[in-house]
Amino acid sequence: MARVIVDAQAARAIGKGAMIVFKKGVVRTEGDFEPGDIVEVYTRGGKFLGRGFVNPNSNIMVRLLIKDRDTPITKELFRERIRKANEYRKKVLGYDKAYRMVYGEADYLPGLIVDRFNEIASLQISSIGMEKFKLDLAEAIMEVEPEIETVFEKNTGRSRRREGLPEIERVLLGKEKYRTVIEEGKAKFIVDMRGQKTGFFLDQRENRIALEKYVKPGMRVLDVFTYTGGFAIHAAVAGAEEVVAVDKSPQAIETAKENARLNGVEDKMKFIVGSAFPVMEEMLRRGEKFDIVILDPPAFVQHEKDLQRGLRAYFNVNYAGLKLVKEGGILVTCSCSQHVDMQAFKDMVIAAGAKAGKFLRMLEPYRTQAPDHPILMASKDTEYLKCLFLYVEDMH
Ligand SMILES: C[S@@+](CC[C@H](N)C(=O)[O-])C[C@H]1O[C@@H](n2cnc3c(N)ncnc32)[C@H](O)[C@@H]1O
Repeated sequence: MARVIVDAQAARAIGKGAMIVFKKGVVRTEGDFEPGDIVEVYTRGGKFLGRGFVNPNSNIMVRLLIKDRDTPITKELFRERIRKANEYRKKVLGYDKAYRMVYGEADYLPGLIVDRFNEIASLQISSIGMEKFKLDLAEAIMEVEPEIETVFEKNTGRSRRREGLPEIERVLLGKEKYRTVIEEGKAKFIVDMRGQKTGFFLDQRENRIALEKYVKPGMRVLDVFTYTGGFAIHAAVAGAEEVVAVDKSPQAIETAKENARLNGVEDKMKFIVGSAFPVMEEMLRRGEKFDIVILDPPAFVQHEKDLQRGLRAYFNVNYAGLKLVKEGGILVTCSCSQHVDMQAFKDMVIAAGAKAGKFLRMLEPYRTQAPDHPILMASKDTEYLKCLFLYVEDMH
């Protein structure tokens, strides 16, 4: 079997539990291999570290699967890992019908994401090696959770292109079904697998539910980057008088409107299809104010090299968001950029607060992604979502 020799830093990370070997940590390769083959990983000194899928064309050179030499890499191995991942969500975390069933590296399944929405599983593969097992994985998902009748293949997005994989969006196995309704706190949401990501942003579940307790009757709430109404529907269901939801995607807003009707809150919701910056600027010009403003933009920093530019975009959005909050109101601000850590995010918000002349207090401890997206202690890559609930007052 071909070998990949890694440097001391990569070897230390693997020793601590990381499952991903970046190209920059590879010293050399030995033997022939094709993208998607299984290779063995060694230290420079010849110590065996594990086996995994290789892709020399990707920034992630090896996705480790197992740290022994003998266990065969088969459907049975994947089924057992999916079973354990599912059991963790159900028995330990208490999730039931809608949850992330598999979160890649954090579930010993690097390159695989599975979100479950009732009887539909939405699967996303970002590894050329995993792709070869696609049908086995779909069968294993249905075997592990017999209530699942459809495995939808949501194989789209940047990570696929980076890996050199084609984009595919279709039912892979089971009944032809794309839509279902999930429950979350006091709200209900239509999930359409053909929407963004796997169909729904499950990672914000706990943060959306946390919003409910701050919403009081009579409040005006603004949800910028609402997608299918996530935070906005929770605010309306929790008793806000008026909720304005903004997104640039017309399809997302159409589903958001359906979600408003589904929850019986359409009368108090207003939807705007448009780009966040000009929409917020226009609101500022008109002197609009809100009791709560929520900002949940897409990842503005996709690569480390874009950090400064991305932080500027976050700054601009947060500055406008803070200006739109009433005296004594609340800003909920998020970032899903993996390359922006909590300190950098906090520093950006502090700077935006200073420029806007706002005194900011944390209402909640640091919030992150829902626990069905577990953070692997040894892997920085598994930790990406930051969410701050801030009390906003004018500086005196
Ligand atoms: C992270 S998602 C928001 C998820 C949402 N808060 C939820 O709970 O489901 C980001 C959203 O921003 C939207 N978006 C991206 N760029 C935008 C822009 N410039 N202006 C407005 N919306 C934008 C996308 O269409 C997407 O729906």
